[in-house]
Amino acid sequence: MQVIKTPAEMQMWSRSQGMTGLKIGLVPTMGFLHEGHLSLVRQARELCDAVVVSIFVNPIQFGEGEDFDQYPRDLSRDFALLEKEGADVAFAPEVRDMYPEKMSTFVEITSMDDKLCGRSRPGHFRGVATVVSKLFNICQPQMGFFGQKDAQQAIIIEKMVRDLNFPLEIVVGEIIREADGLAMSSRNVYLSPADRKNAVVLYQSLLKAKDLVADGVNRPAEIIKAITDLINQTPGAVIDYVEILSGRDLSEIEEIKGKVLLALAVKFGNTRLIDNLLLEV
Ligand code: PAF
Repeated sequence: MQVIKTPAEMQMWSRSQGMTGLKIGLVPTMGFLHEGHLSLVRQARELCDAVVVSIFVNPIQFGEGEDFDQYPRDLSRDFALLEKEGADVAFAPEVRDMYPEKMSTFVEITSMDDKLCGRSRPGHFRGVATVVSKLFNICQPQMGFFGQKDAQQAIIIEKMVRDLNFPLEIVVGEIIREADGLAMSSRNVYLSPADRKNAVVLYQSLLKAKDLVADGVNRPAEIIKAITDLINQTPGAVIDYVEILSGRDLSEIEEIKGKVLLALAVKFGNTRLIDNLLLEV
């Protein structure tokens, strides 16, 4: 596996691969890789000729007071994992290389970014859309791989690709879970042992919602109330949001019908966990 550190070198590599007709798959990450990322790398391996994994903790998607400085980082461990998975390139630029001068150009999301995580993280999705656009231009993939765990991010990126005619296909990989059901996340390492145990309530809430829908409950408010009650009984859990929206464009819905996204964000101490369920009813 090759480690490439600068956008210029990465762009040169991608151009040379593109010229030989190889299909490049890009898995954008912020590192501290877990099984969720690795499953995307495997999917990319299956569908593409060459796999690039970017590792970059993107400062412009973190708000003031968020965990940019504390975000877990371990590049040598990440490289070893990627080598084992057969990635072709780990692209791991420094902040000064990705943002060598003050930015004047951003990708603005004018809808869908003020819901769910966007509400408590203003500017977050603008930062994500901007860095992902830069990564697409630098790595020139034919396919981009994102996790369903960040459902809002995946929906926004798919819309951005359609709106701006990026010449690539987006693949969304399923949520990978720990044995007890907690969705894998680089932030899980922040949880205290007690909070880690109680955090399983996010998954239990999704299962409960699934059962309610299977029993014929079709009013979002009823499901939201049942889940809210369950989470509120859990020690240490503080709800940021429990929402049911259209799984196509995050618009409000009156009835559980069609593609439906149930999304949760719950804080344990300073750690905010998210999880979701996409239903086709
Ligand atoms: O999901 C992430 O890890 C990040 O938001 C991404 C897509 C790599 C952009 O920085």
